[in-house]
Amino acid sequence: MKVIVGNEEKISALIAEEFIKVVNKKENAVLGLATGTSPLKVYADLAKANKEGRVSFKKVTTFNLDEYVGLEGTHNQSYRYFMNENLFNHIDIDKKNTNVLLGVGDYKKFMNEYDGLIAKAGGIDIQILGIGSDGHIAFNEPGTAFDSLTHETELTEQTIRDNSRLFNDISEVPTRAVTMGLKSIMNARKIVLIATGKNKAKAVYGLIKGPISEDMPCSILQKHPDCTVYVDEEAYSLVK
Ligand code: F6R
Repeated sequence: MKVIVGNEEKISALIAEEFIKVVNKKENAVLGLATGTSPLKVYADLAKANKEGRVSFKKVTTFNLDEYVGLEGTHNQSYRYFMNENLFNHIDIDKKNTNVLLGVGDYKKFMNEYDGLIAKAGGIDIQILGIGSDGHIAFNEPGTAFDSLTHETELTEQTIRDNSRLFNDISEVPTRAVTMGLKSIMNARKIVLIATGKNKAKAVYGLIKGPISEDMPCSILQKHPDCTVYVDEEAYSLVK
């Protein structure tokens, strides 16, 4: 596992360049994407590079990590909405090649097909991850099996509290989600994880230094052959 420390602007730019490299080498690359606050600057940098003609996403396929159960894709806190607003509407991607798990309707069917669809597309070439303050990656909360594939899960109180900042009231935060599993994530050829701020310091310690344990789901990344962790000084503070 490689670790790169820098301010948010710098680490976001470095991650965007990693994505650009992958897509410029393989125009039909498969990208694994995350939502949340952490990747926002990366997505802005990718949109800028696309506008400048430095990269094209026309042939790219994407798979997102997760979605809240109960939210329509048109809900402004759904992850489909987030992806459209923060990336897909600003790049030359064909939206029918963008996959975000469903949270309503026959969402279980799509969830059960998801790992097969990723494999059929050729597997994920590069996966971006954020990290929860409890050490979750995607919505794989503490206690999730390392061999898990895409599944439905219950969010921890801590995650609900963390994510309530984006809702009008904590009672509006969904309590369940569908998520790629830890094995689904580990199957990606290359992984980049971004973490900033003091709130992530404990999880980042578990990620880099902690024992590999299902109590700290992110710790499994220590076993990935090509995983780079991008952190700011605050998120890195306990490791130092
Ligand atoms: C989102 C996701 C989550 C977030 C994590 C951190 O698709 O998979 O694991 O990456 O909850 O969220 P932020 O970046 O908002 O701190």
